[in-house]
Amino acid sequence: HRGVTTRTDPFALLAEPMQEVRRTLLDILGSSNDSMDQIAKYYFLQPSKALRPLIVLLFAKATNGLGAGWDRKLAHAITDLDQPMSRPDVLVDHNPRLPLSKTVPFSDHWALTDPPPPIIPPTPLDATGLDILPSQRRLAQIVEMIHAASLLHDDVIDQSPLRRGNASAPEAYGTKLSVLGGNFILGRASAALARLGDPQVVELIASIMSNLVEGEILQMQDAPAPSRAWRVYLQKTYMKTASLMAKGARGSVVLGGCEQGQVYAEVAYAYGRNLGIAFQLVDDILDYESGEATLGKPGGADLQLGLATGPALFAWEEYPEIGPLIERKFKQPGDVERARELVRQSAGVERTRELAISYADQARKVLDPLPQTDAKDGLISLTERIIKRKS
Ligand code: FPP
Ligand code: MG
Ligand code: MG
Repeated sequence: HRGVTTRTDPFALLAEPMQEVRRTLLDILGSSNDSMDQIAKYYFLQPSKALRPLIVLLFAKATNGLGAGWDRKLAHAITDLDQPMSRPDVLVDHNPRLPLSKTVPFSDHWALTDPPPPIIPPTPLDATGLDILPSQRRLAQIVEMIHAASLLHDDVIDQSPLRRGNASAPEAYGTKLSVLGGNFILGRASAALARLGDPQVVELIASIMSNLVEGEILQMQDAPAPSRAWRVYLQKTYMKTASLMAKGARGSVVLGGCEQGQVYAEVAYAYGRNLGIAFQLVDDILDYESGEATLGKPGGADLQLGLATGPALFAWEEYPEIGPLIERKFKQPGDVERARELVRQSAGVERTRELAISYADQARKVLDPLPQTDAKDGLISLTERIIKRKS
């Protein structure tokens, strides 16, 4: 059994495409409105793990060539995805005679009266660049955009002052611009998604956005009865966190020519689902164990927000007196401190870690049908890194 150190480092393996994904993402988010331009790019200019795009790219590398549709995907891989993105409103509202086609350049960096920028000629893929398709790189950006949009909205809802070690967007720009910025990013993500030209993938990825909202609303609602608490927690966690990883991974495999429902698409989905739940359980632990300095966001936030996450749900089994506190969402004075103390005395954190490990193990096991490659090794390595992460 090999440890983390001997496994492929997934971040190093994909350093080149990841860097390109980050760099060209900023073009997609350009707006001729200066305020929007700034706020849309704000969370992308700060360091982040970019775990979601990494998963998309790893699955591209791990499964491209395996599906029946690969040759067809490759033949169509010559792409104009890189035409300047993307301002459909210019075309629709101001220039109705221009066809809304993939080859029309549209950019937000030019004013309506400026001449349009030149069309970048589609570059044929060279043989060295075939391992990840342009559409899969674009999907990596789309999932990161959806994630960032949800963070903008989340920081408004949670009234969080910090994100990624800096002032949160609402703190820096106010709540109104943060909500609008999130919506703007979703608009750009939707346009980019449409350009992938695969209705199945459009539907799959669009459903993530609804899942995120459903997860958030489930979390806001009244605490469930004790007998349903874990079921609701896991459902919420799938919608809020794992759906993006599961469906992003599946979308990548489908773009590489595997049909939905076929084994590699299901492997990707199951991996993302299990990894996402493990990721969130570790997040729950870090909220109890770490502070602002390592997290880049406030620690101890969950109880303050009224949330009973993994550690508190386990503590409930040992200390029934935590139940009423959970039910009133730690609202009364002293509730947060009392709950924190009970969780500390309990095995809540330890049991949450064990549960996270079992989901991470499951994520590793579902990869079995994949052929042995560096990318698969990188995916396995991620299941170990997720558990060990400190921020
Ligand atoms: C972070 O959770 C937030 C999410 C994972 C998703 C939140 C979803 C919404 C606000 C719905 C809006 C959705 C879209 C598509 C715009 P957290 O608050 O537990 O974590 P944190 O500590 O990082 O803030
Ligand atoms: Mg939140
Ligand atoms: Mg939050």
